[in-house]
Amino acid sequence: MRVLTPAPSDEEVIAAHVALPPTRPTGRAFVRLNMISSSDGGTAISGVSVGLGNRNDHAVFGALRALADFVLVGMVTVVAEHYQPPTGDLRVLVIATEPDISGDPELFTSGRGTLVLPEDAGAAPPQVAEIRAGTGGFVDLRALIQGLDGHVIVLEGGPRIAGEMLALGLVDEFFHTIAPMAISGESARLAHGPAADPAPWQLHHGFCDDAGYVFLRYARD
Ligand SMILES: NC(=O)c1ccc[n+]([C@@H]2O[C@H](COP(=O)([O-])OP(=O)(O)OC[C@H]3O[C@@H](n4cnc5c(N)ncnc54)[C@H](OP(=O)(O)O)[C@@H]3O)[C@@H](O)[C@H]2O)c1
Repeated sequence: MRVLTPAPSDEEVIAAHVALPPTRPTGRAFVRLNMISSSDGGTAISGVSVGLGNRNDHAVFGALRALADFVLVGMVTVVAEHYQPPTGDLRVLVIATEPDISGDPELFTSGRGTLVLPEDAGAAPPQVAEIRAGTGGFVDLRALIQGLDGHVIVLEGGPRIAGEMLALGLVDEFFHTIAPMAISGESARLAHGPAADPAPWQLHHGFCDDAGYVFLRYARD
């Protein structure tokens, strides 16, 4: 005798892929890094990642956002990718050294974008929300993540912020989409900067789609 189980729908696969784990760290926010690369490790085509993704990558991106309280992202990515004000209650926290919103003013004047600045950076424009952490021209990312204790953050890059967060041991999960492309070029690896702990992560979930995209979810135990 065999139990016949219907194949899960696409929506069910993605829901299982991004489901929040039952236990999360205490004393700081839970951080889920989500990025895409080509098969040869590239992260951008002509300076943006949009040409790498497909419908299912966008669905994973949206599903992770739907479970998050905050998006965390670097200013270079916000400007390059023309970040729009998010839907729902989500807020976009943008790491920057200076309060220059000229690259994407709509995100900040909408009230949905928050500048994350060092204490010694200049004043943010009127009506633009800000968080201050750290001095010496750098945001103290550990202090930021500790200050958001109890919240879920989806970290959307770019490679410099991802590299800093990984080196600090502040990334709990890594969602990696691999696009079936070999793009060569000059774009960065998914993460670069100071070295991170090379200890292996655990593969918690994965699937591929009919277009050859591979979706991986790694976690630190
Ligand atoms: N494939 C993907 O999934 C993906 C995802 C996101 C982005 N991207 C691509 O990656 C590129 C952008 O990434 P990126 O690595 O160049 O930049 P980024 O990580 O988006 O942003 C770096 C920004 O953050 C600032 N910064 C970094 N660490 C800081 C700290 N501790 N305190 C204060 N400010 C800090 C930098 O300021 P300073 O410059 O003043 O030092 C810079 O403005 C774009 O081409 C984008 O399309 C790809």
